Amino acid sequence: MSVTWALPFNVKIKPKLGENKVVDEKVYSEIHNKTVENYREFWEGVASELEWFKKWDKVLDDSNPPFYKWFPGGEINASYLAVDRHYNSWRRNKVAIIWEGEPVDEKGNPKEVKQITYADLYREVNRVAYMMREKLGLRKGDSIAIYLPMIPELPIFMLAAARLGVVFTVVFSGFSSDALATRINDAEAKVLVTADGGWRRGKVIDLKGIADRSLEKTQFVKNVVVVRRLGNGVRMQEGRDVYFDEIMRDIPHNVYVEPERLKSEDPLYILYTSGTTGKPKGIVHDIGGYMTLLHGTMKWVFDIRDEDIFWCTADIGWVTGHSYIVFGPLMEGVTEIMYEGALDYPQPDRWTSIIERYNVSILYTSPTAIRSFMKYGEEWVKNHDMRSVRLMHSVGEPINPEAFEWFFKVVGRNEIPFGSTWWMTETGGILISNLPGYLMIPMKPGSNGMPIPGLEADVLDENGNPAKLEERGYLVIKNPWPGMPLTIYKDPERYVKVYWSKFPGVFYAGDYAVKDKDGYFWILGRADEVIKVAGHRLGTYELESALIEHPAVAEAAVVGVSDPIKGEVPVAFVILRQGHEPTDKLVNEIINLIREKVGPIATIDKLYFVGKLPKTRSGKIMRRVIRAVTMNTEVGDITTLEDEASVDEIRKAIQEFKEELGKQ
Ligand code: WTA
Repeated sequence: MSVTWALPFNVKIKPKLGENKVVDEKVYSEIHNKTVENYREFWEGVASELEWFKKWDKVLDDSNPPFYKWFPGGEINASYLAVDRHYNSWRRNKVAIIWEGEPVDEKGNPKEVKQITYADLYREVNRVAYMMREKLGLRKGDSIAIYLPMIPELPIFMLAAARLGVVFTVVFSGFSSDALATRINDAEAKVLVTADGGWRRGKVIDLKGIADRSLEKTQFVKNVVVVRRLGNGVRMQEGRDVYFDEIMRDIPHNVYVEPERLKSEDPLYILYTSGTTGKPKGIVHDIGGYMTLLHGTMKWVFDIRDEDIFWCTADIGWVTGHSYIVFGPLMEGVTEIMYEGALDYPQPDRWTSIIERYNVSILYTSPTAIRSFMKYGEEWVKNHDMRSVRLMHSVGEPINPEAFEWFFKVVGRNEIPFGSTWWMTETGGILISNLPGYLMIPMKPGSNGMPIPGLEADVLDENGNPAKLEERGYLVIKNPWPGMPLTIYKDPERYVKVYWSKFPGVFYAGDYAVKDKDGYFWILGRADEVIKVAGHRLGTYELESALIEHPAVAEAAVVGVSDPIKGEVPVAFVILRQGHEPTDKLVNEIINLIREKVGPIATIDKLYFVGKLPKTRSGKIMRRVIRAVTMNTEVGDITTLEDEASVDEIRKAIQEFKEELGKQ
């Protein structure tokens, strides 16, 4: 079945940008084709701009696809690139990170602001690396888990680990104890770094309490380092837990830890992410390829310059923060903002105050944030001076043209470059985007633009042929790129199966996409069972397996349905076990259980009780059908459905719910 999409394919807006920077898409395509034809040489040129301890023997080892190795023979260190290089240059006293805590005083001013220079960063990264090596006994190849809020210690620990070749896995501080335990166990983390708490929308998150519960489910962690963020006296386990400030106390301020000369294809980190069915996948990124892609995209996508104030509003717990708060911007020597809390706390103009306070010039944010700002209204923007912003992008989910246009008007003055950068945890960095720092094609509201240089992407139909223009198909990447995953941690077969098998020889992203007649890409959302809640990636599997842990739940199905602000929200359908009654109390109990098991980001929007779930004859839940019924759209092909009455069950449950609402 082919679907033609009613998107504003023909709207083109030329941003105001330096001379000769805006080019016709045909011009871009021609230049782009050349970079793709010679992609090895092209990427070699980008990699040459980094500082390597030893140059590579070969650009790409493609002898064992899809396990590609970029720049084999090369020796490099990400911590060196992000810290030492600037420390050894005029940037030594340049501010690297302006950190702002969430709490405000009576006047609404931030209570805590820290300015961390590259020299400060260098000192702290060295000291922490020293502590990790000398006191915790961590060595190259060991792994640690980091479960911290958005405080400076988070990038510092990541950089210190990277310095030693210790592989780290950051777990988003909105995840629960079970999610944390699963990740610790899979990564076999020897050390857990956490805090005595964190602030989120005026509330304290009890990170240490959550961490303690997760540690009951793992044998790997020998030591827990606790950063005092709140100073609220959490429970510490003798012999296992130690406060960060205490373990650091006797470490001199001038220790130097030589950065390990790591192989280009050594692992830098593991980041767990959700996909189609099964437990979260540990995506492993290399060093040389990853840093090369970040360097390229910092230049092309963000047009980064020394005088910029860069602000990526993501959380470091997700890949966007890894790449575009920690490694990308710091490698480029920028001054950037790191903000601890909610963008609308205590008022909807927190984010606009931050832009004004620090004269942010480059803003990288999400469609969910933009839509919530839009809901609060323009006045929260107008009261602040936004003229410092010269370039912006969004990421994480498709941006609807209305949200694009609104943001472009109220922040972008209808003139600055603005785009929707497509990429994913697996790709390491931005792959499809407008490129104001390279050659910028006219913007189309809602579109992602075109693939970055050196990268060949396409949209295929079900049979693996190029989809017709303006028809929906599957997004694929056709050539290897630096920054691609090394593998799925401890599960290379799954890596091959999930990404390289649907269409042999090409990387399958799992996204629906459309290419228009001008060659622009429009990525429409996930084609699998991933739900994007406010841009956060969650798998139906994680939610469903938490649901069935409730004693009253026999079976459960979760689908993502459209939401005007968050993009998508999870909705659950539950079959109760014999002897349990569908009451409001039970609904709340189950929803709370999910929050506890997966984390508050996974809050179920609605929960319906049903007698049957639509399944195929082989027993697989047909979430596509449930989703269509819930959203009142075309159900499509149901020939594989085992029992059609199950569809009516879903319909009935939704109908009854609406009637209940109507009565209230
Ligand atoms: C979605 C986030 C449309 C997409 C960096 C992808 C987008 C998933 C965009 C990856 C965009 C990300 N337009 N969709 N600009 N950016 N996505 O791993 O569905 O958290 O597959 O990485 O987000 O999410 P992840």
